[in-house]
Amino acid sequence: MGERLNMLLTFSKMEDAAVLSKSAFALDGLLEDVFAEYAPRMEDRGIAFDITAPPGVKVYADRARIRMAVSNYLSNAVKFTPEGGEIRLALEAVRKRRARVSVYNSGSHVPKEDLERIWNYLDVSEGTGGTRTGTGLGLPIVRRIVTLHDGRCGVENTADGVVFWFEVPIGKEKKPS
Ligand SMILES: Nc1ncnc2c1ncn2[C@@H]1O[C@H](COP(=O)(O)OP(=O)(O)OP(=O)(O)O)[C@@H](O)[C@H]1O
Ligand SMILES: [Mg+2]
Repeated sequence: MGERLNMLLTFSKMEDAAVLSKSAFALDGLLEDVFAEYAPRMEDRGIAFDITAPPGVKVYADRARIRMAVSNYLSNAVKFTPEGGEIRLALEAVRKRRARVSVYNSGSHVPKEDLERIWNYLDVSEGTGGTRTGTGLGLPIVRRIVTLHDGRCGVENTADGVVFWFEVPIGKEKKPS
C-alpha cells in the first residue's frame, strides 16, 4: 500500500475517542523504544542525540497511538536536522498533571506562516510554500491523536532550531461509570 494511502487510512480511522485502546503505562519505556529505533539513522547522519525520560510518568492512553505520535515527531527531526546537528527527546511532568513530550532539533525554523497550517489536514493540499517533503499527514495525525487524549500539541522556533511538543493528562485508569 502506498505511504500516502496508509497515512490517510491511519488518519481517517481516528474519528473519535471511541477508537482508542487505552491502558495505564509509564512513558519512559515507550520513549526509549522509539528513540532506539531512530538512533541508527541519527548516527549515520552524524547527529548528536540524547533522551531525558524520568521513570514514573504514567498515562492512561493508547500506547500504539502515542508511540506513533512520538515516531512522527522523531522522523521529522531526523529528516530536518542538518548533518552534524542535534536532537533531544525529553519527557517531563508538568505540575504533576500533564506529561510533556518534546523533541528539539537544530536546524531551520518552521516559517511563521506555516506554524499553524502544518497541523491541519485541510490545509495540506495547499502546500507549505514548497517545503513539504512527504505526505504532510504526520503532524495532522499527531494532533488528532493528542486531541483524542484531551491533550494539546505545538511547535516553537528556538534560537537555533525547533521544538515540537505534546502534552497529555497524567492519569490512572478511570472507573467505568
Ligand atoms: N523538525 C522539523 N523541522 C523543520 N520543519 C519541520 C519539522 N517537522 C515538520 N516540519 C515541517 O512541517 C511539514 C509537515 O510535516 P509532516 O510530518 O506533517 O509531513 P511530512 O514530514 O512532510 O510528511 P511525512 O510525515 O508523511 O513524511 C514538513 O514538510 C516541514 O515543512
Ligand atoms: Mg513527517
